[in-house]
Amino acid sequence: MIKSMRRPAPFIQRRHLAAMLVAAFFTLASTAPAFAKAPITLRAAADHTVQIGTAIGLPQLDNDPTYRALAGSQFNSVTPENAMKWDAIEPQRGVYTYAAADEIVAFARAHDQQVHGHTLVWHNQLPSWLTGGTFTAAELRAILRQHIISEVSHFRGKIYAWDVVNEPFNEDGTYRQTMWFQALGPSYIADALRWAHQADPQAKLYINDYNIEGINPKSTAMYNLVKSLRAQGVPVSGVGIQGHLGTQYGFPGDIAQNIQRFTHRLGVQVGITELDVRSILPVDATKLATQTDYYNRVVEACLADARCVNITVWGFTDKYSWVPSVFAGQGAADIYDENYVAKPAYFAILRDLLAARGH
Ligand code: G3I
Repeated sequence: MIKSMRRPAPFIQRRHLAAMLVAAFFTLASTAPAFAKAPITLRAAADHTVQIGTAIGLPQLDNDPTYRALAGSQFNSVTPENAMKWDAIEPQRGVYTYAAADEIVAFARAHDQQVHGHTLVWHNQLPSWLTGGTFTAAELRAILRQHIISEVSHFRGKIYAWDVVNEPFNEDGTYRQTMWFQALGPSYIADALRWAHQADPQAKLYINDYNIEGINPKSTAMYNLVKSLRAQGVPVSGVGIQGHLGTQYGFPGDIAQNIQRFTHRLGVQVGITELDVRSILPVDATKLATQTDYYNRVVEACLADARCVNITVWGFTDKYSWVPSVFAGQGAADIYDENYVAKPAYFAILRDLLAARGH
C-alpha cells in the first residue's frame, strides 16, 4: 500500500472495521490463550504505512526475554535509547566503542527493522574528557566534526535517520546555552548536518526536540531554523517531535497544524520520536483514560499527514522507563505496564494504525 493512500475518505467506516478487528482480537485473546499472542502486532497493523518504533535499552535486550520478544515483534523501527550517545560511543578522545550500538543494529537487522540513530550533538551524556577539557572554539569544532564523521561513517547505510542535533532550544525559543552554542554559535547546527550528510548521504537528518508538539515559541523557533537551513541548502530532512507528555498537563491541541507547517510549508519529514505519556502516581481510571486519549491523538495527528513517517515510543514497558528516575513520583508512561500487560493506549494505537491502513 502506498503511503498517500493511508488518509482515507470513509474514515468512519474504516474505524468501525478497525474496532471490529480489535474486538476480534480481544475475543480470541480471552477464549484461545494459545492463539492470543499471535494475531495482531503494531507493526503488522501499520503494514509499512508508517514506521512504528520503540527506544531500545541495553541490558534489558540481553537479559529479559519478554522485552526482547516484544521489541522484535511489535515494532518495525528502533532507536537506541543510550547506546549511540557520545559518552557511549567515544568515552575517551578518539577511542570509539561501538559494541552496544552494533548489537542493537544487528538486532534490528535480524528483525527487519529500521534504525533511527540517536544522537550526534547534544548537551547531555557527553564524556568527561569533553565536558572537563579546555578547548578553543576551533578545537571544539574539529572535535565535533571528527565525532560526527566517525560515528556516521561507522553506521553508513544502516541508519534510516539520524537525530543529528538534539534539543537545541529553550522553552522561549532562544538557543540553549550549550557548550556547542557558547563556543560556536548557531553555526554548529548547519555544520553538524553537513558533516553527517557527507558521511552518509542516504540518511535522513533530523533536528529533534521536546515541547514542540503544539504551536508555541519553541516549535516556532524550530520552524524558523529549519526554514533558514533549507533556504541555505543545508541538508536537513526532518523534524523530530519527541512527544514527552503528561496526563497532569493539557494536550497540545494544535499538533496536527504544527506537523503540517513543517511538512507542507517547509517540505521536511516529521517523526514522533520519543512518545510517552506519564502520570503522577498512583494511576487511576481517569489518568489512564487521559493517557489513552493523548496517545491516540498524537498517533492520529501523525497518521493524518503522509509525511509524518515514524511514531516511536520512548520505551514500551514501564519496567524500564526513564521517567521515575527523572520525575520523582511520576511514571506509568508506557503502553505496557511493568508486567508486560498491554494498556488501553496500546489498543488505541493498534486501532489507529488499522484505520489508517484502510481496514
Ligand atoms: O550507563 C550508566 C551505568 O554505567 C551506571 O552504572 C548507571 C548509574 O546511574 O548509569 C548509567 O547511565 C544511565 C543511562 O541512562 C543508561 O541507563 C544514566 O545515569 C541515565 O542518566 C541515563 O538516562 C537516560 C537519559 O536520556 C539521560 O539524559 C535515559 O535512559 C534516556 O531514556 C533519556 O532519553 C532522553 C533522550 O535521549 C532525549 N530526549 C529526552 C529523553 C528522556 O530524558
